[in-house]
Amino acid sequence: MIEDIAKNLVQLKKEFAKIYDGKSQIQEVIPVSKSDLFPILQQDLELLHQFATKNPIYYNSFEKTIDDIPCIVYEGDINKYWLNSIQHGSSRAPFSPTWIMSAYVGVLFAKELGYREVIDIGSGDGRIAFCAKVLDLESYSIEIDDMLVDLQKLLTILDFHPYCSDAITFDYSSLNLTQPIFFIGGLAQMGGTALASGVLEKIDSVTNLKKTAWVFAGTYSQKYPLDPKNEAGWGTLIEKNNLQSIQTISLPTVWTFHEPEETPYIFTQTVSNQ
Ligand SMILES: C[S@@+](CC[C@H](N)C(=O)[O-])C[C@H]1O[C@@H](n2cnc3c(N)ncnc32)[C@H](O)[C@@H]1O
Repeated sequence: MIEDIAKNLVQLKKEFAKIYDGKSQIQEVIPVSKSDLFPILQQDLELLHQFATKNPIYYNSFEKTIDDIPCIVYEGDINKYWLNSIQHGSSRAPFSPTWIMSAYVGVLFAKELGYREVIDIGSGDGRIAFCAKVLDLESYSIEIDDMLVDLQKLLTILDFHPYCSDAITFDYSSLNLTQPIFFIGGLAQMGGTALASGVLEKIDSVTNLKKTAWVFAGTYSQKYPLDPKNEAGWGTLIEKNNLQSIQTISLPTVWTFHEPEETPYIFTQTVSNQ
C-alpha cells in the first residue's frame, strides 16, 4: 500500500509538472484531503500543511485540482539557505529539500519496517524528522547549517529535536537509540558518500547497536558518474559496509522537479550476524 501511495505521488507530480506555468524557483504539492489514492490520516495531512504554511522558504500557496485531486501548491525560494549551506568547510551536501509528501511516505515505510527512531542526517529544514513525529516515531534532526537550524526551530509544531552539528562528529550515544533508521541527506556523488561513511563509522564506534537501517537518496542521472555496483550511486558503500538492500522507493524531490525520473530512496539495513 505504501508503494501505491508512492506511485500515486509520482503520478501527481508528473501531472503537476506538465500543467505548472508559474515562475517560482521551487514548488511542491500536498493533497487537501484523504482520498482513495492518498489514504492518509486527515490530521497528518493537516500537520504537513502547517509545516509548509509556517515555513519561510515558501512565499505563496494556492489551491489547484490536479488529476481530480484537490491540492495546495506551495511556491518558494531556497537560494539564501542554499548559499549559506555551502559555506561550511565540512559540509558534504548543499541544501535542497525532498518534497514534504515524499518525506512522509519515506517515513511511513520506515515505520512499517519496524524502526522506532528516525535520525535525519543533513536535515535541511527538518521535514523528514518532522514527518517522523507526525507518524508518532521519535526523531532527531542533525544539520550543520545554523540558518537552517534556526528555520527548523520555527517549525517545531511537533518537537523533532533539531541539533546544529556536523553529523560526522555528533555524539549519537547521547540519544540512547534502540532501533534507529538514518536518512542520509545528499546524493552519493555530491558528497553523500563521505557523509554516510563518516556517520556509519561514528555509530559503530560510539554505540552497541546490533541493527540499524540506512536510507540513501540516489540518482540515475547520467550527469553523475556511475557507481560500478549501481544502487543509484550507493552500491560500493552498501557493499563495503555490509548493508543489505531492502527496497527502493522513487519519490519526487525539489531537485528532480524538471526531470523525467524521480529520486530513488534506497532502504538498507545492517546484516545481522546472529
Ligand atoms: C540535500 S540537503 C537534504 C535536506 C533534507 N534531508 C531533505 O531531504 O529535505 C543536504 C543537507 O545536508 C546538510 N549537511 C551537509 N553536510 C553536513 C554535515 N557534515 N553534517 C550535518 N549536515 C550536513 C546541508 O547543510 C543540507 O541542508
